[in-house]
Amino acid sequence: AKKVLLFADVGIDDTIALIYGYLSRKVDLVGVVADYGNVPRQMGLRNITYLINLFNISNQTKVILGAEKPMTGEDPIFYPEIHGKYGLGYIKPPDLPEGGFTENFYEVVNLINQYAGEIIIVNTGRLTSLANMYILFNDLMKKVKEVYVMGGAFWVPGNVTPVSEANIHGDPIAANIVFRYARNLTIIPLNVTERAIVTPQMVDYIQSKGRAKIIKPLLDFYYEFYKKRNPSIKGSPVHDALTLMATINPSIFSYQSLPVHVSTNGTVTKGQTIADIRPYATFNHEESKHRIAFDFDYQAFYHDFMSVMTGE
Ligand code: BDR
Ligand code: CA
Repeated sequence: AKKVLLFADVGIDDTIALIYGYLSRKVDLVGVVADYGNVPRQMGLRNITYLINLFNISNQTKVILGAEKPMTGEDPIFYPEIHGKYGLGYIKPPDLPEGGFTENFYEVVNLINQYAGEIIIVNTGRLTSLANMYILFNDLMKKVKEVYVMGGAFWVPGNVTPVSEANIHGDPIAANIVFRYARNLTIIPLNVTERAIVTPQMVDYIQSKGRAKIIKPLLDFYYEFYKKRNPSIKGSPVHDALTLMATINPSIFSYQSLPVHVSTNGTVTKGQTIADIRPYATFNHEESKHRIAFDFDYQAFYHDFMSVMTGE
């Protein structure tokens, strides 16, 4: 199984990714870092520990408290209207149990050393914690096999501004650092995640099988929000679950490798991701080019998602 260290801002679709990771035999979630983003980091931490108890996998996953705020120095914006008052849609989780997590961020270093050469980092939140890894432990990060980031929107509309996607918009300075220093980085942007739709019929069938336990109160809430924005949408886009799926099913996507820049200012352009497709682009050192997914096979996504979430 793939050894995955997840940096997440545990709102609804991060939770779907966590459930997918717990249920998939091809994924070993060795660690989860609770970052601010959709929700404050303490709420994300509570949601992670709630899920770990719900799926009783406490001994396999190390839970580590992550970043509290962005490198921009701005106060983070949270999105209860999208993810619910507690970040779990209609669900109100029990209070944070004692223990079950660590505030020692250095445990991330220990995990990378423990799984050197095979660990895969998946980032489904803002990029603040991940950027700090490249600033403080750049050599250690060469022991990370691959990095997958859910983020960005390339020549398609954003979801926070006309051009900016939430994870990048939340900390554009951190995003620029990651796109500058990361190696073996795959970006899963709105170009594909907006189309990773889970319909109400899929949700009801998965819920009826009981394995994914809480998918209905999560995605029913998410779908209500998305319908307000686009009444013709057919279900919930599971941005983060698609990104985790990419670590075990990379072939369902088609990619281009391009240099990526992030706009750090402007009320509309802050967080805009810009890929450089100019053939004469000055970027000629390979490590600054990243694999960006521009398309994917929905049927392959559907079959994998349904089989993992139902166990069939
Ligand atoms: C991304 O931002 C958050 O709202 C979701 O959890 C996802 O990671 C989508 O733009
Ligand atoms: Ca997320």
